[in-house]
Amino acid sequence: MRVPVIAGNWKMYKTAAEAAAFVRAFLPLVSGAREVEIVLAPPYTSIGAVARLVQGSGIGVASQNVHFEDEGAFTGEVSTAMLKEAGATHCIVGHSERRQYYAETDDAANRKVRAALAAGLSPILCMGEMLPDREAGKTFDVVGRQVAGGLKEIPAADAARIIVAYEPVWAIGTGKTATPAQAQEVHAFLRGRLKELWGGAADSVRILYGGSVKPDNIAALMANEDIDGALVGGASLSPESFAKIVTFH
Ligand code: 13P
Repeated sequence: MRVPVIAGNWKMYKTAAEAAAFVRAFLPLVSGAREVEIVLAPPYTSIGAVARLVQGSGIGVASQNVHFEDEGAFTGEVSTAMLKEAGATHCIVGHSERRQYYAETDDAANRKVRAALAAGLSPILCMGEMLPDREAGKTFDVVGRQVAGGLKEIPAADAARIIVAYEPVWAIGTGKTATPAQAQEVHAFLRGRLKELWGGAADSVRILYGGSVKPDNIAALMANEDIDGALVGGASLSPESFAKIVTFH
């Protein structure tokens, strides 16, 4: 059985003081949560503070990006070793906002996935189609290319440490969630592609849905066989709403 993952991507929200206040309020609200892995993805500057505060709780801490080189003259970038030292356990790779605004490619995502795995961080590889892709019936082409490119030459032995997130770009921050059936259809397609790549090991990969996940739609999404959790943006910024999503069942 796949243990669900509920991850909160805070994007460029919260100073370290605000992040600490969130964690203090959030911990008691989820102390009874069972059979769910919780991950918080604060901005780089808050990773250390969040990691210290969640210590011993089992909650994971993700970065929202990472560089694929170990070190070097890459102004503004952060390495896997720096993230590990700060207390990160996971890193988000290939988020659609990085692809759209910072021209990230599948090849860069692949290099980041490899760097994360080599450092002992669990990558959360994001993918998803834009609205014109969906309207043109190209959803499977787009996500098929993204999953193949992002996971190129990654061996089956690493499958269990990789988390995939399907985030249709038209559903991010718009209040337009994919219907549970639309999400399940793409998740099942992705599971099929993972099986072609890794055989039976694909059954252990958690595939998260992201895009306007809220306390009132999480249960219907999670009822689907191939939806193994959520990557939550806006609704992860308040301790109360994120706790409701984590404890949906
Ligand atoms: P929203 O939940 O705000 O739509 O954001 C989704 C997302 O991009 C998470 O990575």
